[in-house]
Amino acid sequence: MARIMALSGIQEAASRDAALSVLRGGGLVAIPTETVYGLAADATNGVAVAQIYAVKGRPDFNPLIIHCSSLAMAEHYAVFSDAARGLGEAYWPGPLTLVLPFREGCSIAPLVTAGLPTVALRVPKGGVRAIIEALDRPLAAPSANLSGRLSPTTADHVAGQIGDLIPLILDGGACAIGLESTILSLAGEKPVLLRPGGIAVDVLEATLARPVVRAAAGAAIEAPGMMASHYAPKGMLRLDALRLEGEDGALNFGGSSLIAPVSLSLSERGDLHEAAANLFAALAEFDRQDVRRIAVAPIPLTGLGEAINDRLQRAAAPRETAC
Ligand code: TXA
Ligand code: MG
Repeated sequence: MARIMALSGIQEAASRDAALSVLRGGGLVAIPTETVYGLAADATNGVAVAQIYAVKGRPDFNPLIIHCSSLAMAEHYAVFSDAARGLGEAYWPGPLTLVLPFREGCSIAPLVTAGLPTVALRVPKGGVRAIIEALDRPLAAPSANLSGRLSPTTADHVAGQIGDLIPLILDGGACAIGLESTILSLAGEKPVLLRPGGIAVDVLEATLARPVVRAAAGAAIEAPGMMASHYAPKGMLRLDALRLEGEDGALNFGGSSLIAPVSLSLSERGDLHEAAANLFAALAEFDRQDVRRIAVAPIPLTGLGEAINDRLQRAAAPRETAC
């Protein structure tokens, strides 16, 4: 079973040292970020990276996000346009992942990019940055869940899914944002949104001073995280529900007040940031209480609501497409 060590307070230095020792030895460490917990390996060590796929039970065509300690570090691994650099300066560290042309000949293990000519990069917030800086190598890290299961937003969620498969989980408390980073491709002619996430698209459009193209639903998947049923709890979800049916559990938002034996609210005051932070924890709670059908109240599509609805739609998708 994994050791769980706090990445804060008086234990922080010891936790950092323990993580460095596992990572230098080619092992995996679960790390807290502001979005969700990641399952990290030294991105320059192909054998270590391969273990990530093994632990997650993940299809091996899925490329991984590289986590850097700074924009300067990220520039070693990708070719940055002025627009990309501007976004990095504005939003890193933060919940933005940029897909950019891969810098040929750099030290990233080929398995990380799964053969693509592009690479996905971000600079996360929190104590993990100091670990990356001390390691002096980037970390490849997908979300620390089993493939097709909920992304973990607490150290306990990580332990529940993969705790017996890895040596160390760093505990940074509950993730402040609680859903994955926004993935934006700047590898082509136009900026393309590959995954809505922790930073709203209109914010990025304002900084870029140009529109962002939404990747067509059902098109060939450039980001396999877009697979239909990727964020699935055990229960079936019914979205935009205005009333309960049968044995439904209820997931409320704002003024909606569906009352069921198990009723949760993403945000009673209708705050989309609070809702995002609570989303995966709420779905995990329905799992924990073995709720088989979940009625989800309507959630607005504005701002972070786009990402929340995207995750809910994937969670509600028919299960035969789950990986
Ligand atoms: O917030 C996050 O992004 C979290 C934390 C841990 O950083 N990570 C995360 O990673 O959500 P993961 O592996 O669960 O999702 C990464 C997504 C996948 O859908 C993957 O296919 C896509 O990024 N991706 C990675 N490299 C790519 C590339 N070169 N082109 C397009 N998509 C890529
Ligand atoms: Mg994931």
